[in-house]
Amino acid sequence: MRFAAIADVHGNHLALEAVLADIAAQRITEIVNLGDCLSGPLEAGKTADLLMALNAMTVRGNHDRYLIDSAEDAMPSWERHAYSQLSARHLDWLRGLPFSAVYRDAVYLCHATPEHDETYWLEAVSPDGHVFLKPLEEIEAMANGIDFPLILCGHSHIPRVVRLGDNRLIVNPGSVGCPAYSDDTPYDHKVETGHPLASYCVLEKSAAGWMPSFRTVAYDHMAMSRLAEENARPDWAGALATGSVR
Ligand SMILES: [Fe+2]
Repeated sequence: MRFAAIADVHGNHLALEAVLADIAAQRITEIVNLGDCLSGPLEAGKTADLLMALNAMTVRGNHDRYLIDSAEDAMPSWERHAYSQLSARHLDWLRGLPFSAVYRDAVYLCHATPEHDETYWLEAVSPDGHVFLKPLEEIEAMANGIDFPLILCGHSHIPRVVRLGDNRLIVNPGSVGCPAYSDDTPYDHKVETGHPLASYCVLEKSAAGWMPSFRTVAYDHMAMSRLAEENARPDWAGALATGSVR
């Protein structure tokens, strides 16, 4: 059993195209998507069309929820530009996404944690903005009752695998379309991969259990950086150009 996990595409159509080509080149035909599909100052409409056609098992991210929960004149900043590109068909697709899902009776999928869509599962943030691996007992507490050997989450945009004491794996494939950002919750902090490549993960079940292979894919990230600049988001432009927050 072998499949690909993508997450946090954030409207980056070029990055998504490159990742899908890389997945196809490995003859992988099954894909799951961990949400935050469209929000950002890029190409939400084209990205929605591509993801809808992909027909992959997809869970809803917090940013997907903001697009369908927020009043049109009160969209959060990442949603404003994306929302303007979306049709009723795209929004209906977002409304139909589940909070969590189980893939092939074997793999649990959620965007952030099994309880919340805005909480980092694998990372903690200190009051001075340091982002670090959460203590294992806290990660395990959030996995209570999730009785699957492989658990997938996104949300932090940081590719990572954590093995729990009972050998369950929690894997975050990283972000396809947004390699760095800053946020103010729970404290001001930055997430930076340090590169502009698109990230995703291949999961394969072997005799030794589930094995994640993290992949990075080059694409025309400067085209997306320029688009972000044109759309008045210099923060996104810098993150897409470098994978760091200026
Ligand atoms: Fe995200």
